[in-house]
Amino acid sequence: MTEVSVSLDEVMQQGRVTTSSEGTAVLVALIDGEVVAYQDECGHRGNSLAQGVLRECIVTCPAHLWRYDLRTGERHHSPGSRLTRFNVEIIGDAIVIDVPAPAPKLSIREALLAAAREERS
Ligand code: FES
Repeated sequence: MTEVSVSLDEVMQQGRVTTSSEGTAVLVALIDGEVVAYQDECGHRGNSLAQGVLRECIVTCPAHLWRYDLRTGERHHSPGSRLTRFNVEIIGDAIVIDVPAPAPKLSIREALLAAAREERS
């Protein structure tokens, strides 16, 4: 787990900002007066949502127009499919975001072995 911070003033003025931590892109937005942070990666093909249209609480992915409700992270009309949300804490003028360390990349061999072990258990 790492912490990354962005300016609260910047989010209040722009409505949303992006940052990153150890290669994980993070979208921070002010939605209905609440600061939220999500992994900036569409569930379809991983496109960034940061350049998508944001209307009220709905962000639309610019690639293929999937829509997400940023109050919950749920994909519009697809309950159970949601963005990865990160915990945020406001400390003074900073928004501090807890970003989990990315999962280690496995080789194909390692991934197949891990899947086989899971099937056995
Ligand atoms: S990558 Fe977002 S809708 Fe396709």
